[in-house]
Amino acid sequence: MAGARTFPHRHLLGIAELEAADIVQILDLADHHLVLGQEPIKKLATLRGRTVINLFFESSTRTRTSFELAAKRLGADAVNISPSTSSTTKGETLLDTARNLDAMAPDVVIVRHDKGGAPHVLSRHLRCAVVNAGDGQHEHPTQALLDANTIRRHKGRIEGLEIAIIGDLAHSRVARSNVLALTRLGARLRLCAPRTLMPRGIEDIGGEESRTRTRIVHQLEPALEGADVVMMLRTQTERTTGEAPRFPSSREYARTFGLNARTVELAKPDAIVMHPGPVNRGVELAADVADGPRAVILEQVSWGVAVRMAVLELLGVAPAEPAVGA
Ligand code: NCD
Repeated sequence: MAGARTFPHRHLLGIAELEAADIVQILDLADHHLVLGQEPIKKLATLRGRTVINLFFESSTRTRTSFELAAKRLGADAVNISPSTSSTTKGETLLDTARNLDAMAPDVVIVRHDKGGAPHVLSRHLRCAVVNAGDGQHEHPTQALLDANTIRRHKGRIEGLEIAIIGDLAHSRVARSNVLALTRLGARLRLCAPRTLMPRGIEDIGGEESRTRTRIVHQLEPALEGADVVMMLRTQTERTTGEAPRFPSSREYARTFGLNARTVELAKPDAIVMHPGPVNRGVELAADVADGPRAVILEQVSWGVAVRMAVLELLGVAPAEPAVGA
């Protein structure tokens, strides 16, 4: 049930490539799939006979599992490959690995890689559709889409909302995809991080659209005051091993940039609290807020399956292209 509109993309590489209408098309189809996820029998035949490969070079719990479930619930066969069990440990390049997988004729390859741009390279060499499940510090489009669905469900709209994105923006592909998606859908953003975790120019990544709708702040209070949505980000210390630390200590970070029972009160009374996971409890987010009534973190995970079903449905029904160089 892909709807009347033909989705105009062969791959999902980033939010940067999507128009607002493309985003809305995915969100609307995901609405439909969320309902299906609540039925006792969840399986459809939309992608029966199709093959989806999950190629994950970085660790993942939510994203990998939800892509696998999404593929299976659409009736496709899903195969998972991780670096510890693949020949990349024997020195094979990403492109060789991907070309060999492509020779087995999958319809969709979903890739997570620590290098920004890896899915884009694959999309130029493979016959099948390529989906970016997170590339380095660049984009994580399906996370931004599931976040948008979660917000829309709670607030009825995205346009005109005040959304605070707080935390390690420097390393966050989630933040970059959300800046692009949420400003494209008309939200106003407050991006908040210590100076050491704020990438220069992040407000410009969507051009005029993101520049005019984004405010950079380096203190928690102005980011939170009057916010409709508070999205917290994990401090990604694994990406800075061997470098000088970006903040004095986890305790100090929690005190100045952490969301807790006191600071959350600065947001609107009906504000929702989001986090892409995994949560560093007690660092960016206090446990009582993570488990409290405003948190929608597990709901985001449920939307993850629905959004990924929508993406696979829109991309996976098209026949694969002829072999490159064949
Ligand atoms: C995020 C990621 O991998 O980019 N997690 C996710 O996909 N849900 C965020 C993170 O690792 O902090």
